[in-house]
Amino acid sequence: MSDVIQKPEVDEHEARLETDPGQSPCRISRRRFLEGAGAITVTLLVTSPWGGATRAVAATRTPYPRKRIAGLDELVTNKPIPFRYPDDNATYSNHLLIKLGEKAGGGVGKDGDVVAFSTLCTHMGGILASSYKSDSKVMGPCPTHLSTFDLTRHGMIVSGHATQSLVQVVLETDGNDIYATGLQGLVYGRSANS
Ligand code: FES
Repeated sequence: MSDVIQKPEVDEHEARLETDPGQSPCRISRRRFLEGAGAITVTLLVTSPWGGATRAVAATRTPYPRKRIAGLDELVTNKPIPFRYPDDNATYSNHLLIKLGEKAGGGVGKDGDVVAFSTLCTHMGGILASSYKSDSKVMGPCPTHLSTFDLTRHGMIVSGHATQSLVQVVLETDGNDIYATGLQGLVYGRSANS
């Protein structure tokens, strides 16, 4: 017979805590504490804003609406049509739909010349609503610091203080109908477009 004394899997104190119903409910065994700590860790990993929860929030952001803007047969070359998108905010949702009369980046329609852009300058929010120039197909100069944007090239900056292109509205057509389906770039003054 061996003289070696086997170490019990659970020490006496731990066993008493686990089996004695008279113990205070606040006292738990080391084993149960560790099991519980594991569960808390899993919970934190799932709900932590630095981990999975952040991805979950991003996945549930509001998608852009699909909104009818006008009919192709309503457009007159170089006559802008104002509209609001993606909501009716009177300050941050104003855009112009324009048939430029020449093919443009992101243009729709049979000639690829129908585009739409925000009327807020990307520099500091100067208002460009009445600044479209039909001869050069630009918006600007901005009344605040003179930035100008080329509407045939996705609103690229031509001159001035701005460092980002004018926000372009993503357009689609379905038969005669023109729909706005998204925005390319963050509208000045918004923390998120939608
Ligand atoms: S706000 Fe338009 S250039 Fe500064």
